Amino acid sequence: MAAAEGKIPSHVGIIMDGNGRWAEARGERRTAGHLAGLETAKHIVKAAAGMGLQYLTLYAFSTENWKRAGEEVHFIMGLVKQYLRSELDFYRENRIRLRYAGDKSGLARDIAEEIALTCEETGVYGGLQVILALNYGGRDEIVRALRRAALAGLDLAALTEAELGKFLDNPDIPDPDLIIRSAGEFRISNFLLWEGAYAEYYISPRLWPDWTEEDLRLALESYEKRERKFGGLRE
Ligand code: FPP
Repeated sequence: MAAAEGKIPSHVGIIMDGNGRWAEARGERRTAGHLAGLETAKHIVKAAAGMGLQYLTLYAFSTENWKRAGEEVHFIMGLVKQYLRSELDFYRENRIRLRYAGDKSGLARDIAEEIALTCEETGVYGGLQVILALNYGGRDEIVRALRRAALAGLDLAALTEAELGKFLDNPDIPDPDLIIRSAGEFRISNFLLWEGAYAEYYISPRLWPDWTEEDLRLALESYEKRERKFGGLRE
C-alpha cells in the first residue's frame, strides 16, 4: 500500500546515539554528552506530542550498556531519575503517559521505584505514550517472554507468534512503524528486535545532542514517502 498523503507513524522508536562523540568533539567528558542528550530527549518528547505521535520508545540504556565505566552508568541512571522527577508536571499538563520496557529486576531499587511511580501517576493519561527502554535488550525481552509463557503453562513446542507476543513487555502497544537512529550508525543494537520486524528505518548523521524538532520532522517526512508492504506485494 502506498503511503497516504500526510501519513504519520503511530509508534516511533529512537536509538539516541552519539552523546559520547558529541562530548569528545568538544573536549568534554562523555557524561556531558549524556546531559545534553537528556535535554534533547525532553525537546523531542515535546515535539512528538505536538506532532500527534501516539507512542515514542526511547532507548536510554541497553542490557549491554552495563559494560561501560561505572561512573558513566551511574551518571545515566541519575539522569533518568532526574528526568522522571523534572518532567512529571509536563507529563501531567500534556496528558503524557510513561511506560517502561526492559528488565526492571536488574535496576537499582530507587530507579525501579521512580519508574513504577511515574508509570502509575501518568497511567490514566490518553495522550502520547513514552516508553522508556532502560536495561532493555531485544533478545532479553524475547527470552523473558518465553520464560513467562512457560510459567503460564503454555506448550512451548507448539507456541505461535501471536501467543508469544502476548508475553512481551508491552503487548498492547502496536509495533513501531519507524525506528530512528542518530549519529550515523547502521546498526539495530538489540533494540525492539521482535517488534521492529517490519519497521521502517531512518538513520540520521546528526549526533543525538544536536537533534532538534526539525530532525524529527525530516524523519517523519522520509517515513511518509515509504511504501510499506509487510512482506506482501506492491498494489
Ligand atoms: C548512546 O550514546 C546513548 C546512551 C547509551 C545513553 C542515552 C541516555 C540519555 C540520552 C539520557 C537519558 C534519557 C532519558 C530519556 C531519560 P553513546 O554514549 O553510545 O555515544 P557514542 O556512540 O558517541 O559514544
